[in-house]
Amino acid sequence: MGENMNLIVAVDEKWGIGRDGDLLTHISGDLAYFKEKTTGKTVVMGRKTIESMPNGRGLPNRKNYVLSRNENFSAERCEIIHTDEELDNLLKNIKEDDIFIIGGESIYKKFYKKCSKCYVTKIYEDLNADRFMVNLDEDEDFKVTEKSEIHEENGIRYQFLVYENKKIK
Ligand SMILES: NC(=O)c1ccc[n+]([C@@H]2O[C@H](COP(=O)([O-])OP(=O)(O)OC[C@H]3O[C@@H](n4cnc5c(N)ncnc54)[C@H](OP(=O)(O)O)[C@@H]3O)[C@@H](O)[C@H]2O)c1
Repeated sequence: MGENMNLIVAVDEKWGIGRDGDLLTHISGDLAYFKEKTTGKTVVMGRKTIESMPNGRGLPNRKNYVLSRNENFSAERCEIIHTDEELDNLLKNIKEDDIFIIGGESIYKKFYKKCSKCYVTKIYEDLNADRFMVNLDEDEDFKVTEKSEIHEENGIRYQFLVYENKKIK
């Protein structure tokens, strides 16, 4: 597996991503953005993230790969990957920029350096997270290349940013 994948994440103002095994909040504008970016693509996630999805099923209209070390784990619409070698073999025939790393914390930390583009939704609140994404504002390899206007939903302000990895592009 090379170094030209994408990552997509929604973070609060402390780069928090989840609490008690679930998302911090549900913003329909952000869910629509996630759907638009990932539909027709390959998504890679951890076992706890798939378990937090509705009915524990893979996302429709996407190829879903789930990492788990448990040989007995299965999930509808998903291919379960147990080792890095297995993942490398499966992903090597997919165009890298069609691959999206979609979380959670352990999977973001493992792969973010291999991503050329990170689509980050910043939510301007402290939502009391217990899981976090790496703070890309403090990582000198990443710079913001796109910024949307600030949106608001149910009193929550949020913004879409794209970070590019200077080491890759
Ligand atoms: N805000 C966002 O955009 C966003 C996106 C996604 C998730 N989240 C949140 O993130 C939280 C979950 O994150 P998390 O870090 O606790 O869990 P996670 O990354 O979703 O899943 C962790 C699990 O993945 C498997 N795994 C991790 N590394 C592996 C490797 N190298 N090889 C094989 N399997 C591996 C292990 O499964 P086994 O234990 O089965 O071996 C591990 O327990 C939830 O709160 C979720 O809602 C937020």
